Amino acid sequence: MAKPTLTLNGKLVEFEPGQTILQVAQAQGVEIPTLCYLKEATPTGACRICLVEVKGARTLVASCAMPAGNGMEIQTDSQAVHTSRRLNIELLLASGSHNCLTCEKNGDCKLQALAYRYGITDIRFKGQTQQYPKDDSNPLIVRDFSRCILCGRCVQACNDLQVNRAIGYGYRGAASKIVTTGDRPYQESDCVFCGQCVQACPVGALTEKKAVGLARSWETKKVRTTCPYCGVGCQMWLHVKDGRVVKVTAVEGAQPNRGMLCVKGRFGYDFIHSPERLTTPLIKGEDAGVSCARSINEDSYNMQKLFRGVIGTNNIDHCART
Ligand code: FES
Repeated sequence: MAKPTLTLNGKLVEFEPGQTILQVAQAQGVEIPTLCYLKEATPTGACRICLVEVKGARTLVASCAMPAGNGMEIQTDSQAVHTSRRLNIELLLASGSHNCLTCEKNGDCKLQALAYRYGITDIRFKGQTQQYPKDDSNPLIVRDFSRCILCGRCVQACNDLQVNRAIGYGYRGAASKIVTTGDRPYQESDCVFCGQCVQACPVGALTEKKAVGLARSWETKKVRTTCPYCGVGCQMWLHVKDGRVVKVTAVEGAQPNRGMLCVKGRFGYDFIHSPERLTTPLIKGEDAGVSCARSINEDSYNMQKLFRGVIGTNNIDHCART
């Protein structure tokens, strides 16, 4: 059966049924800027940066959420699109405190990059913004709601990708913010500190506490490696400055973890530079077995049976309690 077609910036293209306009454009190598869009999560259409013009439509549409339709005629970079995107960026900039100078995300912030791209040098709108104190009450994640643009990527990362369901939208109107159940601190909530929300945050609202003040984004080089903990083999980037790992992020789109990490993989890297780290190989006096925490229960049972019953030692452990 013939594939459906649409016209993208004057060019007739085929697409797969079910694709959004954004996915069709990406498949054709046409770049549409996005902010709230998070791959593999349900699109929310919250930021309105990915707007495009569809002939005959009453308004501009959010390409990340709009399914492509047979016969559509789409313009991704018309004057109307440009003007609307610019306005939306200005409104987002006016919605909080977006002083880049001391922001941890300076140089790695999607909002900052969009403001630069669209040439926004001052903020025309003076909104009434909520003042939030910085929350660094837990050991791993700093929350700065004054920089939050309510794009919802952190909520999608928590609910759709990691399926932890620890955070969501709370309150209403100008008081809206991202909250745990009951708006409690992270450490008193259902949060398991996987840090997926931090990786998803496009601005400086969520940052890694251990990385604060250690490096600007352009000072680090990224080294790809495999997580050393369990047997899954998650792919990660080590962000390295002067030979020192300052933070860890997941490799987007790579198997097997598809851009996700657990708390150990993302935050458990202190051992790399620990003065107590073993630097020469040691042979244990007693036999010991170490199994993978991601092994199935039956394999873990057999492992301890082997070591206790055959080798004769109770020295059996795995990495789950790191
Ligand atoms: Fe499409 Fe935000 S990226 S609305």
